[in-house]
This record gives sequence, C-alpha cells and structure tokens, in this order.
Amino acid sequence: MKEQKATNVTWHIHRVKREKRESLLKQKGVVLWFTGLSGSGKSTIANELAHKLHSMGHISYVLDGDNVRHGLNKDLGFSPEDRNENIRRISEVANLFADAGIITITAFISPYRKFRNFCRELVGEDRFIEIYAKASIKTCENRDTKGLYEKARAGVIKDFTGINAPYEEPEKPELVVDTDKETVEESTEKVLKKLKELGYLEA
Ligand code: ADX
Repeated sequence: MKEQKATNVTWHIHRVKREKRESLLKQKGVVLWFTGLSGSGKSTIANELAHKLHSMGHISYVLDGDNVRHGLNKDLGFSPEDRNENIRRISEVANLFADAGIITITAFISPYRKFRNFCRELVGEDRFIEIYAKASIKTCENRDTKGLYEKARAGVIKDFTGINAPYEEPEKPELVVDTDKETVEESTEKVLKKLKELGYLEA
C-alpha cells in the first residue's frame, strides 16, 4: 500500500458523526463490493439494485469501473500495478461514501484477492459485503457486449482478465450471484434480502 507522504497533517474530529447521518437517512452506510469477470453482470445488477433501493426510499451510489476510469482513475491502465492503484483509490472513496451513510455499490473486476481484502480491512468486516458475480468465461465471452473478448482473443488487447490476465476467485464472499443461471431480477433480490437480513435498511 502507499505510504503517507504528507507530514504535519492532523486528523480532525467532526461533530456530526456517521451514526447521526445514518439516523437521518434511516439506513446504514455499507460497501457492497461486486467482483467478477468483465461481462459477469456486476454493473447490470449494481444498476438494478440502485434502482430498487431508490424506489424503496434509500440512498445508494454506484461506483463503476468503466465510469471511474473516465475521471478519477483516467491515468490508470490495466497492468497489475495500475489495477491495484485503481482498487486502492476506489476503496478509499467507497469508505468515505459508506461513512457518509450511503449504500455504496462498487462494480470493479478487482481481480486480486489481496486488494479486495484491503478494502474489507479499511471499511471493516461489519460494513463490507463481498459479492461474487460468478459467470464462466464462456458465458462472458458469449455475451461480449463490448466486443473486448474478441479483441483479447485476437491479441489486440494483451492483458485482458480471464484470457491473458489473472482473476482470483473470492474464497469466502458474503454472497454469490450465479449469473450463468440467475436472472438480473433474481440476483438483485438476493442482494436485497441479504441487506435486509443484516439490518442495513434501518437506522
Ligand atoms: S480492474 O481490473 O482494475 O478492477 P475495472 O473494473 O476498473 O478493472 O475495469 C474493467 C473494465 O474495463 C471492463 O469491464 C472492460 O470494459 C474494460 N477493459 C478494458 N481493457 C481491459 C483489460 N485489459 N482487462 C479487463 N477489462 C478491461
């Protein structure tokens, strides 16, 4: 992880604390960390989930790999170092969002276990839910909505996850959504059920 460069900086304690924001919002801040191959359905389920939560009166926010790489992380590519920096920054952002009391949904391939665990440790076990969007390479390749698998197979993209770059499956995710078999609706309901069970949808 990166070392702190700045010296002479002091942490300020603020009067309005997370618990106060949460009681105002009538929900708890949490990070729902989706991980899985490109095309496994992370963004689609994240989107549907945010939509459902919104209609139920809950504040959520989706941090999505493709989108974040247009702004905050536009200086990063797909080398292991850049992917790790991508996840490190997003972990910090997600942690702030969760502290704000927001149901924070992230959709990044996040191929390395170590960096997903970095976020888990940063946010804390009780506010981090790892969701594995499980789909076979075959399924993702058949979907190939962005035409990237075809390019990777043709050797145009040299470090594409699942083809010529690694993906480390989660060992103990809080939830698995099997998008080979489940519909978007079914997977979304599973996540909502988990959120309710764990009491995140109440103050
Ligand atoms: S991560 O590995 O650093 O977590 P991230 O989720 O931000 O990846 O971005 C993945 C998205 O970038 C994919 O859904 C795909 O659309 C696009 N992409 C472009 N090049 C690659 C690549 N070499 N490997 C994986 N995804 C890529």
